[in-house]
Amino acid sequence: MRLSRRYQFCASHRLHLDSLSGDENRELFGKCNNPYGHGHDYILHVSVAGEVDPETGRIVDRDVLDRIVREDVLPRIDHKDMNAAVPEFRDLNPTTENLAKVIGDWLCAAFRNRLPAGPRLSAIRLEETGRNTFDLSME
Ligand code: NI
Repeated sequence: MRLSRRYQFCASHRLHLDSLSGDENRELFGKCNNPYGHGHDYILHVSVAGEVDPETGRIVDRDVLDRIVREDVLPRIDHKDMNAAVPEFRDLNPTTENLAKVIGDWLCAAFRNRLPAGPRLSAIRLEETGRNTFDLSME
């Protein structure tokens, strides 16, 4: 059984590689290379997989899952300039592909600490815009 829960956050980024020239960066990333960055309203879906507890009839305590996301993930990125304020992006381009991997790492660590007996983190989905959705499977 899998359960997915949805969360929202806002963050800004600028796609830029120091290893490339200004022209090459503009060519590669277009408007996303604008010096002052731009923001997105991201939607994060967190999916967990596990057995249905015979007593509660559920696979995860929603409060525990919410606490993991609200305490271990969202404060690190919500309303942040990711290039400047998120250490993981000091040397990593904050594309949404990379953001999904970073969030996946944070969630894996949080699940190990807070839900050692399960359920397990199954996948995350990150919506950047209405047109761009990124799926990362953790299994
Ligand atoms: Ni963008």
